Amino acid sequence: MLSTRGAQWSQIDYTHGEQNFYHPIANPNGVVSFANAENFLMHQDLIDFINSNSRFDASCCSYGEMFTGTNRLRTAMAMHLNTHFQPAASIDPEQITFAAGVTALNETIAMMLCDDGERIMLGRPVYGSFFRDLTMRTGVKLHYVSVGDTDQFTTKCVADFEKGYDEATSQGIKIRALIICNPHNPLGHCYSRQALEGLLRFCAAKKIHLISDEIYALSVYNRSDLDNEKFTSVLSIVTTGLIDPSLVHVLYGMSKDFGAGGMRLGCLISRNKELTDGVRAVCRFSSPSQFSMDLANKILENQGFVEKFLLNSQTALAKQRQFAENLLDEAGIHYHKKGNAGFFIWLDLSSKLFPPKTQDNGWVAERLLSRRFEEAGVTMSTGEAYHAPQPGRFRLVFSVPEEILQEGIKRICEVLNSTS
Ligand SMILES: Cc1ncc(COP(=O)(O)O)c(C=O)c1O
Repeated sequence: MLSTRGAQWSQIDYTHGEQNFYHPIANPNGVVSFANAENFLMHQDLIDFINSNSRFDASCCSYGEMFTGTNRLRTAMAMHLNTHFQPAASIDPEQITFAAGVTALNETIAMMLCDDGERIMLGRPVYGSFFRDLTMRTGVKLHYVSVGDTDQFTTKCVADFEKGYDEATSQGIKIRALIICNPHNPLGHCYSRQALEGLLRFCAAKKIHLISDEIYALSVYNRSDLDNEKFTSVLSIVTTGLIDPSLVHVLYGMSKDFGAGGMRLGCLISRNKELTDGVRAVCRFSSPSQFSMDLANKILENQGFVEKFLLNSQTALAKQRQFAENLLDEAGIHYHKKGNAGFFIWLDLSSKLFPPKTQDNGWVAERLLSRRFEEAGVTMSTGEAYHAPQPGRFRLVFSVPEEILQEGIKRICEVLNSTS
């Protein structure tokens, strides 16, 4: 017998145990996963650095400075942010708090900012796991706002959020924060500086918090064919006359820009001392390992390595995105062309949906197509999981080796050709 919530959680199907991943020689019948947003292209560079630079000392066996980031790590991260995020005011290590991943921090911030039933507002489509991370254990609810399918990064989004906010409050719904993902998952865009200023002004006017998840900040690549926005951190915007800085919070971590999801290290950067103190109290439940923190010190303190690693990563991402787009073009698969950040391409398979006989419903057809992909040995996140406004979208993670991209897109084509 479980509690009511325990019984609900036991119904959630979450990845567990050994995975049957495709390998061209060792496991040709395995599954091609285009689902997890990881930069597989940089794993070797990172592990080479770690293997030649790590010797742990006995302090890592201890609880050490306990659970929310050693002074050394917070100092190294502050240096990294001051170098790469162009903050309007220098980041102080005391404004930084670590936990075992941004996932844990998203949940903690939701609990810190909202009481039961209060809401966090967000545009859509958007990173699907925000739903689980922000709501599953917190009692917090989400308020999704339509901000244009693929174009939600200019000042126009401010009016959409204002409308969404007014609609919510007119129904008695209490909005406590707006969360954005910049660069955006799944669309791969960066917000313009003007849009960010507009959002800060909006949050100030409504006295709500702005949470900016900037976990892909430095995974932005140049595209010679497009004039795309560069990354602007909200930390780089002068808050004077715009917003109380204690309402602005940024999330960052090692999982994406450093290709190190397995390190489980994320951090909150906030000038709000009360929030920071509360997050630190809660984060003892999601503490990072001393070994991970020690490795991150060695990476972040070596600015020469970081510089080179990020440049190699951005070059590799640009090249692989082009390679993936060429394969998709050859296959006649539609996708959102404009992204220049992150590891994903937003496919538009709406014209390929095959309504099930029983029900002419696009979302059912999308689920069916997703199942067909799985049966054919290729997995992608669905648009439904990412709260896409229309059915038929899939998120393809392209930051995998070439032979895996080729095999996965071949399997996708086989499914699409067999259903059309
Ligand atoms: C926008 C966003 N935030 C957070 C995360 C998870 O970060 P972490 O690995 O630090 O928990 C992801 C992973 O896909 C993400 O895309």
